[in-house]
Amino acid sequence: MTPEILFDPPPRGLELVNGDTHVFCATLDQPLARLEQFAEMLSADERARAARFVFKQDRTRFLAGRGQLREILGWLLHTRPAQLAFAYGDHGKPQLAAPVGGRFLYFNLAHSDTIAVCAVSAQHEIGIDIEHVRPIREAEEIATRFFSASENAEWHSLPAGRQMEAFYNLWTGREALVKAVGSGLGEPFGRAEMLLDSEKPARLLNPANRADRFPNFFLHSLIPASGYTVTTATKSAEMPYCWKWPAQLTSPTMHIAFDSQQALRPVHTGRKNCEQGR
Ligand SMILES: CC(C)(COP(=O)(O)OP(=O)(O)OC[C@H]1O[C@@H](n2cnc3c(N)ncnc32)[C@H](O)[C@@H]1OP(=O)(O)O)[C@@H](O)C(=O)NCCC(=O)NCCS
Repeated sequence: MTPEILFDPPPRGLELVNGDTHVFCATLDQPLARLEQFAEMLSADERARAARFVFKQDRTRFLAGRGQLREILGWLLHTRPAQLAFAYGDHGKPQLAAPVGGRFLYFNLAHSDTIAVCAVSAQHEIGIDIEHVRPIREAEEIATRFFSASENAEWHSLPAGRQMEAFYNLWTGREALVKAVGSGLGEPFGRAEMLLDSEKPARLLNPANRADRFPNFFLHSLIPASGYTVTTATKSAEMPYCWKWPAQLTSPTMHIAFDSQQALRPVHTGRKNCEQGR
């Protein structure tokens, strides 16, 4: 079953200003008519990649992810989604091949099961990761392999009831950082050390002191739908604006968010949040 997305659709005419981060959340299980539209938008290499998926569900979710990524960027840049061209970094990070109408946007996409999230900024490189929070047998193995000794020690010292959430906070934080710089998990950025405590999500350990290797990234965690956790890595200390895609007007609601500096707190999203920020 597709979970309900807890954000509001973005307002008409949304503009990205300063270093604001905007996160758009979409569902990947889409009706055939929408999938056909997405297929029309994709470039030849994206279509070829779609055709290589063995399972239909993987293929349609890829189409829906790339199609909606193109819709969001096209909507923000006032251009047709099919006209966007992507270039790829050394480790496969997609980016705009060139400015569009004199404007450049940084973006990153992530998906887990049926939910996709796209983070966008007009000023900074950005990374995002999403995970469906559920018990996994390999958690110990992953922690040993990817978390530092002190992260492992802190993780094990948490009460059992907090460990799963903390695991996913550390994991999505690490992936978001890796994806912000477009490297792989084996790269130094993949080994950035994070701090856990029992009340707050993972955060970068003294990020400001690591400007040489780790330019000042902030981690922000969001809950876009029940059972999912998202972390963004961006150079903005401000919480991201969160939106549900596609755009259409409805009444504002509230979602729960937390960031690296503050405890869990409710955050207004949708038009209300947008108005506050403008
Ligand atoms: C990139 C990586 C972090 C993605 O993690 P994941 O949990 O599998 O997938 P996510 O859902 O978080 O993100 C996938 C999306 O991130 C984007 N992406 C791909 N490579 C990326 C990279 N290196 N950095 C940032 N974003 C990347 C793409 O948009 C991709 O989705 P799409 O292909 O459907 O459009 C992970 O696969 C990785 O570490 N890759 C490194 C690859 C590498 O080092 N290769 C070495 C050979 S050169």
